Amino acid sequence: MKKFIVSIVMICSLFKASADEGMWLPMLLGEQVYADMVKKGLKLTKEQLYSINKSSLKDAILIFGGGCTGEIVSNQGLIFTNHHCGYAAIAGASTVEHNYLKDGFYAYSKDQEIKSTLTVQFLDRIVDVTKEVEEAFKGLSWTDRMNKTAEVYKLITDKAEDKDNGLSARIYPMFKGNQFIMYVYKTYRDIRLVGAPPESVGKFGGDTDNWEWPRHTGDFSIFRVYATKEGKPADFSKDNTPLQPKHYLPVSIKGFKNGDFAMIYGYPGGTNRYETSFGIKLKVDIENPSLVNLRDIRLKLMYEEMIKDPAVKLKLASSYAGIANYWKFFDGESKQLKKFGTYEQKQQYEVEFLKWAKGKPDYVNLVEEYSKIYTAWTPYSKMRTYLSEGILGSPLAAFAASLVALEAIMVKPGVSSAEIKKAVDAATASRKIFLAGEDRVSDVKIMAVTAQMYYTDINKNQHPIGFYEGIKAAYGDLKDATTFTNWANNVFAKTMILDESKWANFVTHPDATVLQADPAFDYGAEFLKNYNTKYASLYTAFMNKNAELGKSYLKGIMEMNPAAAKKMYPDANFSMRVSYGNVKSYSPRDAVQYDYVTTGRGIIEKYKAGDYEFDLPSKQIELMKKKDFGQYIDKAKNDLVVNFITTNDITGGNSGSPVIDGSGNLIGLAFDGNYEALSHKIAFDKDLNRTICVDVRYVLWCIDKLGGASNIINELKLVK
Ligand code: ARG
Repeated sequence: MKKFIVSIVMICSLFKASADEGMWLPMLLGEQVYADMVKKGLKLTKEQLYSINKSSLKDAILIFGGGCTGEIVSNQGLIFTNHHCGYAAIAGASTVEHNYLKDGFYAYSKDQEIKSTLTVQFLDRIVDVTKEVEEAFKGLSWTDRMNKTAEVYKLITDKAEDKDNGLSARIYPMFKGNQFIMYVYKTYRDIRLVGAPPESVGKFGGDTDNWEWPRHTGDFSIFRVYATKEGKPADFSKDNTPLQPKHYLPVSIKGFKNGDFAMIYGYPGGTNRYETSFGIKLKVDIENPSLVNLRDIRLKLMYEEMIKDPAVKLKLASSYAGIANYWKFFDGESKQLKKFGTYEQKQQYEVEFLKWAKGKPDYVNLVEEYSKIYTAWTPYSKMRTYLSEGILGSPLAAFAASLVALEAIMVKPGVSSAEIKKAVDAATASRKIFLAGEDRVSDVKIMAVTAQMYYTDINKNQHPIGFYEGIKAAYGDLKDATTFTNWANNVFAKTMILDESKWANFVTHPDATVLQADPAFDYGAEFLKNYNTKYASLYTAFMNKNAELGKSYLKGIMEMNPAAAKKMYPDANFSMRVSYGNVKSYSPRDAVQYDYVTTGRGIIEKYKAGDYEFDLPSKQIELMKKKDFGQYIDKAKNDLVVNFITTNDITGGNSGSPVIDGSGNLIGLAFDGNYEALSHKIAFDKDLNRTICVDVRYVLWCIDKLGGASNIINELKLVK
């Protein structure tokens, strides 16, 4: 009986934002959740949270690079974000001699700051454009809508753009396309590196501790936005000056207690909280395990070379970190979805939905139609993952496959030699970038292993015709790993992509048949074309139909629960959101209680001299043992607080986001989620979900005591 009641409650609450769940649209905070925020401890007015006319918290928040969040912390455009967000820029600025990734870096004056290729985007305004979009779509079939989307969006965003002032706009479909919202951004492109701790601090615990609590990572880095004297965005120039922001966050070193209010502004990349049982099944049964399997082996082969040579480590570090991050995420996601029984819950919800949908022609067939499209696509899903994560997991194969676009231009009837030259020059430029990051030793092994895995694991009738027969004829038994090793060695030895004089020859005499005969191109292109010609249209049809059904399904869910619909938040899609909750400890499993903070004591406990993941600068260990924490000490713990956890609802993209107290001060930077709730993209667990944050007092201690960069501390507005 008890069990039954529990499951009914679960069904009802499945799509209702519960506890601290919710990634709220900033302009709706006042209307949707303000009262609850105040109840939890917020002391600011609605206008201070978000305002169109006056400066407000949103003006201190920015999109950092391609997929992170950052915040402004001084009146001179100083940015705090995560170390793992600045990682590629830090690695890019490093050489084996000046290894800022390994040793850290601080600019002790502005002229020491290092230029980067990064951009940051500030949110200028938000506009609901649902009416205009729907007007433009009127009368179109779903397929035509999908095909016309880019064009329709562009007509609307063009009107909001102002290139001269760096303004551009993007439209985000919300609630699976039931609403359309335009965000207008101002993009700055002179961004300089100001500081970063040594990697041993910034990535302390490495992949072992990644996605885990208790954590002890100093995951921060520091940049600065520059603009013209008038404050306009501009390319890098010595004449540029630090940007004077509309708002910047004061930094609190007062500390906090378990239960204190905490909110996070930022750019969560993607969630799918209204996913169906069919989607979960495909993910857990096929997509996630295939990806994990292929990344497992690629990571192992990269790691083997990285630990041998610091130059290789620098070259591969950023790409390795990215692959490893989501390797562990997707593995954990499957485990947690199973643990929570999310598939079964969604199935039960679909039964409830069907009961409600009876006699409603718009909704009654939805579940059946979902079932049909998943049945049709499922047989090809593994192959698609094996292509993207396996075959194209070899950097050489991926670069070679990208030359398919060049081939298409070269064989186009009537193409001019000027057009060919332009395309060849573009390929030469991207080849240069590819070569800068290429490690042959690991790549050749990756190519061999993934080609064999595709052979073994993928249905024969989905292989490119004749490819494996060719290898067999030239190199022998396909069950034998050395067959693939010999074949891959030959590809690497003969390809013009890795041969300067062959490539130079090709550039002087561009010839499609030479490109087509290249063994690396032949390999990458063959697998890509096999997919593009036979399966891409099936996938597009599946995705389009999925989107069409999703829009109706979500509309139905809202009609079914009209009261709850008013308090619904749209799935994350890399548009600005706000999450509010509390600093809070938790119990991950029976008899185990996790504290809400970690401290210096834990760093010393985890420290392993010379270890790849748990080493630290000796100066850090000395200072920690001496308890030299200065003004950054936490009096209650009589130690340095390193990381803390909150109940906030965030996801990838939020990395670097400010954790803000009830008065609008910065108390930390969000940088991770906990393992026990890795299903969070699909299902938020109100008991177990935690956001892992680095305490700003630890950040300042690292800058000040470890880095000696008091110039940076002096720029901040400290709240003591
Ligand atoms: N899991 C973090 C995120 O996705 C990234 C952490 C980077 N650190 C690491 N050890 N890979 O935001």
